[in-house]
This record gives sequence, structure tokens and C-alpha cells, in this order.
Amino acid sequence: MSQRVCVSDFEEQARKVLPKTVYDYYRSGADEQRTLHDNVEAFNRWCLLPRVLRDVSSVDMSLSVLGQRLSMPVCVASTAMQRMAHADGEVATARACRAVGTAMMLSSWATSTIEEVSEAGGGPGGVLWMQLYIYKDRELSLSLVRRAEQAGYQAIFLTVDTPYLGRRWDDMRNRFKLPSHLSMSNFLAPSLSFSEGSYGADSGLAVYVSKAIDPSLSWEDVLWLKRNTHLPVILKGVLSEEDARKAVDCGVDGILVSNHGARQLDGVPATLDVLSEVVRAVGGRCDIFLDGGIRRGTDILKALALGAKAVFVGRPVLWGLACGGEEGVTELLNLLKEELRLAMALAGCRSLSEVSRALVRRREDFSRL
Ligand SMILES: Cc1cc2nc3c(=O)[nH]c(=O)nc-3n(C[C@H](O)[C@H](O)[C@H](O)COP(=O)(O)O)c2cc1C
Repeated sequence: MSQRVCVSDFEEQARKVLPKTVYDYYRSGADEQRTLHDNVEAFNRWCLLPRVLRDVSSVDMSLSVLGQRLSMPVCVASTAMQRMAHADGEVATARACRAVGTAMMLSSWATSTIEEVSEAGGGPGGVLWMQLYIYKDRELSLSLVRRAEQAGYQAIFLTVDTPYLGRRWDDMRNRFKLPSHLSMSNFLAPSLSFSEGSYGADSGLAVYVSKAIDPSLSWEDVLWLKRNTHLPVILKGVLSEEDARKAVDCGVDGILVSNHGARQLDGVPATLDVLSEVVRAVGGRCDIFLDGGIRRGTDILKALALGAKAVFVGRPVLWGLACGGEEGVTELLNLLKEELRLAMALAGCRSLSEVSRALVRRREDFSRL
């Protein structure tokens, strides 16, 4: 195996080892995937303006996020069905996150249970957050929240961009469903665990969502969730400043600027392009996070400079898992950590408090100078 020096090396290797339908499911965006490409491309629209002569012999990347101490401002986003990438799936990811000192957000659609993941990656040094989909059966959603609370998870990320599943052409062509030995482990009923049933000539997941997930989700439900848990609630999937303000009015504890890895509505902006607006609209009333297209340390630095408290990575973690389970994810996270450390040092930042808006400039602004 050749040495992996960047995230795309992980992806290249993952593509070779994963079955095509699995790789397609993990990689795809919605429709023509314009936003998928733009999420990555957006980082190239910003340049870094480093400062020099600042004694960068030591760089501190640690911080507190939602009351938890992390070794770096890079966390793991919820991605569904990780046991398709490696037999240990979410359990391996949780162990890797704890080893590296960062947080894992567990998908409602995990192929490991809330409790298994907590056993593997909770406890001292482990930070686990639960991603929540709201089911038509509200008690079912609430039971996930209760189990997460009891198992020591420390925040709920409510996904608000998936009243229906986006059209992911590869999954439709592949008639994507889970391999028969796997299920969405947090649900007992086969109809909810995506383990059997007829999903027709379509993406099985799209059919599952239309049967189980509640498209009537509204701001009332955010208030309902806030009333029903003592954990911090973060909205995942906000892109507009109006929604960001509304979220703050509902008393949320954070906003994750996300377009679901470009898997829902194609044609929405890259997350980096709307970050500044959301940050301005919120005006410090809650923490803002970002995911989508983060593939290298300099991407992380740019997002932080534009006001994200921390970022999340989705697909890169799946590539790490496919390459080597827990070790692969640990290597991937350490790679991003080292890339961020170097980017901060070369930009003259000794700690996260020195990463400011002055560090980035739009590429086109140089031609106007
Ligand atoms: C294969 C895959 C599965 C995902 N599953 C979920 C999920 O179950 N719940 C959710 O809220 N977001 C899900 N997402 C979105 C991620 O949490 C995250 O927003 C996105 O992956 C970030 O973009 P990136 O992959 O470019 O880093 C998924 C993304 C991918 C790629």
C-alpha cells in the first residue's frame, strides 16, 4: 500500500476496496451534483493572507465546543450506515475520535446502536453527539433522544434539511439498499431498520424516508425538542440568515451551516459562501459550525477565519474507515490535524484566538486592489 499523504489518497483507495453501490452511495450528491462540486471549489475562492515572524514554534488547536474540550476544531459529521465501509463501522469511528480527542456525531441511521457506540467511544475523553431525524412517530424520535441522554451523549443535532430525500441518481440507478446482513440498528421493526421490504425500482433510502420521516417538520418541532431534552440542541442544515435568526429566537444552542454534503437540494450555495452571512445574522448569540467540502487543513483554517467555531467532516471519515477501520479513521483525523497545525503555523497563528477574518480575502478582490 502506498503512503497516504492527503484526503484524496484515502478516497482513491476507498474507491478500489468498496463495492460500487456503496462507494456511489457515500460519494454522491443530488441531481447534477453542482453543489457537490461547489462545496469543494468554494474554498479556492478564498486566499490566505499569512502573517510572519510570530514565533510559531508551538501551536495550540484545542478548544471547548458545546461545553466539551476537544484537541482540534474538526469533528466527525453523522454519516449513515458506516458498517458498509468496514465491519466495525460506527464503533471504529467512535474509538478513533476518542483517540484523537475529537467529537463524533452519530447518525440516527447508524448500523451500530447508540449504546454500542457509547461503550466504544464514550467515557473519559470521548465526546459523542446524537444526530436526530424526526419520524412521523414522534415517540420514536423521542426514544432516540432518551437513549442518547442515558448513554452519555452530550448534544442533539437536529437535521432540518431532509423532509424528503434528495434525488441521488446513482442510488436510483443502483436501487440502493443495505446489504442483507446489516440494518439501521437503532430500530427494532424491520420496516424502520431498512433491513427488509420492497423498495421498488428506486433508491431504497428515498422510499424509506418517504414512509418514515415526517415532512411536516416545522419550527414548532424545534421548540418541542427543546422542551423535551436538557441537552444542547443544534440545528443541522441551515443556509439562510433568516432561518439562522429564527433558530436563535427558538433558543437553539448552535447552528451547523450545512447542505447535507450536497445530497439534498442541488443548486444551493456552497456552505462556505453563506457562512459569513449566517455569522453576521446570529451576531454571537450561538455557536456556528460548518460542514461540506472540507478536504484539507487550509479549508479548515478558511472556515474558522470566516467565523465557524469548528467544522465537521463527512465523506473523508468514510474513506478512512474503508481504508483501515479504526486505524484508518485515526490516521485520517491525524492527517487533518497535522495539516491544520501546519496551516496555522505558516499563517502565523499560535492559537485559535489568533485566527481572524483578516486572514482571508476573496480571490477576485486582489484584482481590484
Ligand atoms: C454517505 C453519507 C451519509 C450521510 N448520512 C447523514 C445522516 O444520516 N444524517 C445527517 O444529518 N447527515 C448525513 N449526511 C450529511 C453529513 O452529516 C454532512 O453534512 C456532510 O457529509 C458534510 O459534507 P462532506 O461529506 O463534504 O464532508 C451524510 C453524508 C454522507 C456523505
